[in-house]
Amino acid sequence: MASPNPVQLRLEPLFPLALARVQLRPDPWDSAVLMQEVLSLRGDAEGNPEPGCAWTGDLNGVWQLHRLEPFQWLRHQVEQQAWLYLEALGFEAARIALHIQRSWPVVSDVGQVVGRHHHPNAHLSAIYYLNGDGSGRSGCLRLFPRQQANELVPGLAVGHGGPLRPDTPAAQLWNAPWLDVAPQAGLLVLFPASTDHAVTANEDADEVRLSVAFDLALTAPLAGADDPAPPEYLAPHPAQWTTLDA
Ligand SMILES: [Fe+2]
Repeated sequence: MASPNPVQLRLEPLFPLALARVQLRPDPWDSAVLMQEVLSLRGDAEGNPEPGCAWTGDLNGVWQLHRLEPFQWLRHQVEQQAWLYLEALGFEAARIALHIQRSWPVVSDVGQVVGRHHHPNAHLSAIYYLNGDGSGRSGCLRLFPRQQANELVPGLAVGHGGPLRPDTPAAQLWNAPWLDVAPQAGLLVLFPASTDHAVTANEDADEVRLSVAFDLALTAPLAGADDPAPPEYLAPHPAQWTTLDA
């Protein structure tokens, strides 16, 4: 006989990682111009420098797209959405300043990948997709959790033949070893820059995968003479730093 007051186990998802997805609606003509710009910035280069690795502008002298005229629309969108992201996380806008440190194109030809890494110089990462049909065939952004907190035995979530059934919704929710984001033209994603990520192989022989990445940093706002000193856990505004002679 069923108990009139059954005991029910409930799981609560604790400490979630905040991934933002924003589907922007760029003008198709502007998108075509940006794609052309990115391809011409890459020029004749094929890899980074190995052929199996996508070409990334930051390693090839192209790291300030946000200062180029054709990318001003995108810079503005990133600025707007980054503030919305911070506000959604509970940040008080008046108590921080937000900066783009650098921005660069990433071009994946068929078979090319970007290895697992994160951006220790930055605080917030943003990636905009110039193309992609949402299928993931041209290569997904793969985000890794900082820790597999629920696998209980280290290694189970990525091991073979273990007791976790990786294709079940429960395993995907509580023990996913990674999350893949399929590129879609106009999609902007934001996530903490400390998050390990990679790009899986472009398996679409008909499409060169094109994206633009941004490193953003948070500092204290510019402090006036009568303002309180910047809090110790935030770097002062870079305009108030002093560069030392070499
Ligand atoms: Fe990256």
